[in-house]
Amino acid sequence: MENLGTIMSDILKRVEKERGITVDLENIDMEERRKQDEIRITKKYKAQEKYRMFNSSLVSDPDDLKSTFDDFLTDTPEQEEELSQAQNIANKIYKGDTSNYLFTGKAGRGKTMLAVSILNGLKSLDTDITCLFVSVEMLVNLERQAVVDKFNIEKNDVYRLEKCIEKCDVLVLDDLGSETSFVTGSDIQPATRFTQEVLFRIADYRKNKANIITTNNAGGELQRMYHGKIVSRLLTRKPENVIVFGGQDMREV
Ligand SMILES: Nc1ncnc2c1ncn2[C@@H]1O[C@H](COP(=O)(O)OP(=O)(O)OP(=O)(O)O)[C@@H](O)[C@H]1O
Ligand SMILES: [Mg+2]
Repeated sequence: MENLGTIMSDILKRVEKERGITVDLENIDMEERRKQDEIRITKKYKAQEKYRMFNSSLVSDPDDLKSTFDDFLTDTPEQEEELSQAQNIANKIYKGDTSNYLFTGKAGRGKTMLAVSILNGLKSLDTDITCLFVSVEMLVNLERQAVVDKFNIEKNDVYRLEKCIEKCDVLVLDDLGSETSFVTGSDIQPATRFTQEVLFRIADYRKNKANIITTNNAGGELQRMYHGKIVSRLLTRKPENVIVFGGQDMREV
């Protein structure tokens, strides 16, 4: 009785004869193995990139980067609605949405917490989406230090951070407005030229990417603080992309 090797070899000989080609079984095997290796290495690189990106976040307290949806208490209907809106946003971004989102409200209402929960939600899923969290005040301070930096330490930090801001899929710009002013209402002043230049550069990197901005200011106040080019690139005009946080200051609870 013929064995499988002989049958395969006969079939190949027939194919070679009919088609006028030479089939090299050993090379097919090598090629397949090379492809599999390439897929494995790319997958590993992308997973590492996800963690490298998130770990490049600029935040004063690293514990602030730990929040998840499960930690968000929903004792009031407002909080329930805020959580559900944030989960919807995470879902949309997961499916490829690249809009701007605005989380606005008074201090301690959970804006930063839910913005970080979105990033952690995305990070935990089987996706290549890369996320970065940046405190706007720390960014502007770092950029200021870089201007007078003689030893290229802050300059290098700023360069690396801006590369991450440019490349990441989802960016949280935390506490926009606080780097400029702690007042609200009619006392709002425009941001300094320096701050506007930094924000314009960032805004330009972020076209066609998902951006979540948290702020104590209302949309109209941000329009008075920043140049129209920044507003147009970073601030959503869609009411459904805005979460207005209400309730009480959770820092006091
Ligand atoms: N619904 C909530 N459940 C549990 N903890 C919450 C909730 N909302 C806020 N907190 C907690 O309250 C504190 C303040 O929340 P967070 O930093 O998100 O506020 P914020 O709206 O970003 O305030 P700010 O405008 O001052 O930056 C954090 O310790 C956060 O974990
Ligand atoms: Mg905050």
